[in-house]
Amino acid sequence: MKIEKYERFFLYATAVVLVVFFGAILMSVGEAGLHLPTQDAVLDPTAVGETPPFDNPGVYPTGPDEYTAVMVAQAWSYSPNEITVPAGSEVTFYVTSRDVIHGLLIPNTTINAMVIPGQVTKVTYRFEDAGEFPMVCHEFCGIGHAGMYGKVVVEG
Ligand code: CUA
Repeated sequence: MKIEKYERFFLYATAVVLVVFFGAILMSVGEAGLHLPTQDAVLDPTAVGETPPFDNPGVYPTGPDEYTAVMVAQAWSYSPNEITVPAGSEVTFYVTSRDVIHGLLIPNTTINAMVIPGQVTKVTYRFEDAGEFPMVCHEFCGIGHAGMYGKVVVEG
């Protein structure tokens, strides 16, 4: 069978692109550890209020300079909407949503995550300096989206 020169070129080029893309997927799983949430990171989004730890949102000390922040996002606020920790604290956020997809962005930190109903988002950051950090929803979640924010108060 005769394959025209340019057709052969694009056949090979297509194969190369496929190999690169599949390689990227494999690397994201193997090297970067990206994967779907495991069973302990999913919950029934219609029963958030009865599912520990989300039946008791708040900030809990877990060790020296370590805190866990359990938060529920809903249209259009976080519960709790304001958390306070001392400077130097490492805070691990566990966040879920009781309705639609929200976001959790804390500018000038590494926290920038989606908050998805039925899943638990876990992010950690150490707040070294005192100050106030806004917590912003950065996934469009309805008419009140622009007003969905809270804050982290880091006390010196
Ligand atoms: Cu919640 Cu936008």
